[in-house]
Amino acid sequence: MALDEIAYKLLVRLAERPALTQRQLAGEVGLSVGKTHNVLRELVAAGLVEAGDARRRTGTAGYRLTPQGRQEKSRQTLGFLRRKRAEFQALRAEIHDLWSRAPDSPDPFTGLPTRTASTMAHSLIAPHGGSLVDRMLDDAAAETERRGSQDYPGWTLTHRQACDLELLITGAFSPLTGFMTRADYETVRDDMRLADGTLWPMPITLDVTEAFAEQVSEGSRIALRDEEGAPVAVMDVHDIYRPRKDREAEAIFGADDRTHPAVAYLHDEAGSVYLGGPVYGVEPPVHYDFKHLRYTPAEMRAHFQKLGWSRIVAFQTRNPMHRAHQELTYRAAQQVEANLLIHPVVGMTKPGDIDHYTRVRCYEHLLERYPEQTTALALLPLAMRMGGPREALWHAIIRKNYGCTHLIVGRDHAGPGKNAAGEDFYGAYDAQDLVTRHADELGIEMVPFQMMVFVEERGQYFPADEVGEDENVLSLSGTELRRRLKEGVDIPEWFSYPEVVKELRRTYPPRHRQGLTLFFTGLSGSGKSTVARAIQAKLMEMGDRPVTLLDGDIVRRNLSSELTFSKEHRDLNIQRIGFVASEITKNGGIAICAPIAPYAATRKKVRHMIEAEGGFLEVHVATPLEVCEQRDRKGLYAKARAGEIKEFTGISDPYEAPEEPELRIDTASMTPDEAAHKAILKLESLGFIR
Ligand code: PPS
Repeated sequence: MALDEIAYKLLVRLAERPALTQRQLAGEVGLSVGKTHNVLRELVAAGLVEAGDARRRTGTAGYRLTPQGRQEKSRQTLGFLRRKRAEFQALRAEIHDLWSRAPDSPDPFTGLPTRTASTMAHSLIAPHGGSLVDRMLDDAAAETERRGSQDYPGWTLTHRQACDLELLITGAFSPLTGFMTRADYETVRDDMRLADGTLWPMPITLDVTEAFAEQVSEGSRIALRDEEGAPVAVMDVHDIYRPRKDREAEAIFGADDRTHPAVAYLHDEAGSVYLGGPVYGVEPPVHYDFKHLRYTPAEMRAHFQKLGWSRIVAFQTRNPMHRAHQELTYRAAQQVEANLLIHPVVGMTKPGDIDHYTRVRCYEHLLERYPEQTTALALLPLAMRMGGPREALWHAIIRKNYGCTHLIVGRDHAGPGKNAAGEDFYGAYDAQDLVTRHADELGIEMVPFQMMVFVEERGQYFPADEVGEDENVLSLSGTELRRRLKEGVDIPEWFSYPEVVKELRRTYPPRHRQGLTLFFTGLSGSGKSTVARAIQAKLMEMGDRPVTLLDGDIVRRNLSSELTFSKEHRDLNIQRIGFVASEITKNGGIAICAPIAPYAATRKKVRHMIEAEGGFLEVHVATPLEVCEQRDRKGLYAKARAGEIKEFTGISDPYEAPEEPELRIDTASMTPDEAAHKAILKLESLGFIR
């Protein structure tokens, strides 16, 4: 409803001081009692205001807001503030623009003949350590190093190292100029400081194998290569050292516990030797996706200056954002009177997170929900460690380097979940505490935030501590959201925006629209191929997804013709089938595989590979060996018994029967048609077909 200014003023007064009489209200808003009476009558009729009955007769009724009145007042206030804020931003940008074109004219705000364009560049927060590092070589030097790198020992960067290197080269890790030497590593580990005393909480180290370390010595120059072998940077090795990984895990992550993803990485993936020394960028980091959202710290700072922004609050995230996030980020920005930078991590996040392509499409939609010119979106190619408090401090330093003055830090910031004992690794507010303790030294301020919850009666989100005990709070857990996506169940509008939900549904379609693999396993002659063909026909008849049959014999002819039946080759064969099936599944098709696949471990590997992309159903065709041998359609059992075929499954080679297949079929007691029908019913009951 559209309220006029007087009605809105009355609502505001009543929200501040309930139980004002008509006469008092008239005085407060500077109106006649008669006019006030009329407006109040309208508000009462609209259900926004109510008066105590007993006192109304005496003319001293105390008016107060109804719950709808409170809700309407908040809505109007928010709308008003949003409009004013957008006007203010537009005006400020316009003034800055005019001023930057005539830098020697007086300061438009103070009228004083002051700053020039070059000093204006300093109106942004200073980078950590004082100046922004840029490790990219100029064109000529880069060309020399590119050629020279052919003769240097070459190290192929892991994904995490590539992320770290990019942030080193662009200055997002200022004041670091390379991977840490032992001196920096040890003081960072023990005191959260570089050897020169600068605050820095996270080791940025280049781990390599013993074999590679043997090729280099202190003073060597090495080439750092991407996955395709192109040299991205060169590095002067100043230091070669072997870390105590248990000590590193304890100091940085709080426990030497492999359930922490960074501790698992440290022990199971990172090499045992660290190389330290300065890096020099040869090729600027290349990304083909979302180029319009990628900024180096220098580019981000230039962008802020162009927009005239100098107070910027950053929001770090690794998840899709819904209405609660929009509300809290907007409130945080209002609270500190700053612009907002949504700065999601797109390098490496927690294993199992939603892929960044989907997330970024969601963020782009969400951006439309903020008032114009208040909010920007940029991607951060950071490899997170999920290091809780230390990570929060690190995030603050990185955002400072990008020109942000504030960082939103919530409950359990960058927390990795539960430890081996089933408890949280860090206290819910440890991250906020650590950042607060270093606030002065950091320069970038923290904006702590409370959980935002949806209050049903008021139809709006509020910080948890502003909710009355008698109010009804609605919430939807991450697990429940995933269930609803999987089963195609409604996701309410109070939780998220329809356009965000639509993006998530595209990535997580309900089961009946997901890709799927039906993986048959069983002895030769068990009937796998016959049943698989029958199911293929039934699924193709339905026609809602493309179907591919990867029968054992077909694969052996077309994909694995050079392979024998040794254990090693059978495993390779099944992995190839698994790879093709996972691609089909990823792209929304149905793959029906029908190899013998005698080894449980290999089947398990294939299951993992495919479950990451869609549905996976193992069907054990459990026809007994005697029946298969009796059928002996291809005459192979006879040859195997006669010793003419070696390593024959069931005769001279093992078959490890699945312990918990989704379905077990015995073709000795049912026809192929019945077996296929049973499989179709199973698919229906699991929601894979409708
Ligand atoms: S495996 O173990 O999964 O790689 O086997 P697969 O690719 O499904 O190949 C099985 C078909 O190859 C024929 N064949 C043999 N099977 C088992 N053991 C040995 N030593 C062997 N040699 C040839 C056999 O015809 C299998 O086909 P199916 O359709 O299973 O009867």
